[in-house]
Amino acid sequence: MAKAIAEGARTAQEVEVELKPRESPWSLDSYDAILIGAPTYQHTMTNNIEKFLEEVAFHKINLKNKIGAAFGSYGWSGEAPRMVLEVLENKFEMKVLKPPLLIKYMPDEEGLEECRKLGKNVAEQVLG
Ligand SMILES: Cc1cc2nc3c(=O)[nH]c(=O)nc-3n(C[C@H](O)[C@H](O)[C@H](O)COP(=O)(O)O)c2cc1C
Repeated sequence: MAKAIAEGARTAQEVEVELKPRESPWSLDSYDAILIGAPTYQHTMTNNIEKFLEEVAFHKINLKNKIGAAFGSYGWSGEAPRMVLEVLENKFEMKVLKPPLLIKYMPDEEGLEECRKLGKNVAEQVLG
């Protein structure tokens, strides 16, 4: 999903896209938009994502008015991307794209296209 989203974002010229398996909270300052991928396990986000969001909050990293989006693979309930997006919007005061992008298990070609569209959409928001 992340690769297809990045691919979609890269179709917009003048937008630089970085795809990271993980990121330090302090590096976030340099981005105009942040998209977080979060699969759902046991009706919630995984520990690494939760810890990451907690670190951003603890260190008071300022993400206000940056563009935010969340996405994730899920099986049946898919809470994680919704939870992530809620934190981005209400805690970090980011401008979020709703709804989050949920894909059941593995994206098929249609799902990949949805991912590319999200990336393109975010890139267009960045360019204003
Ligand atoms: C132990 C376990 C618990 C899971 N719990 C949930 C769940 O509560 N809700 C849900 O929608 N999917 C759940 N799933 C399904 C995963 O979200 C799904 O397999 C998803 O594709 C995993 O994404 P990933 O491969 O990127 O980690 C669970 C899967 C496993 C193995």
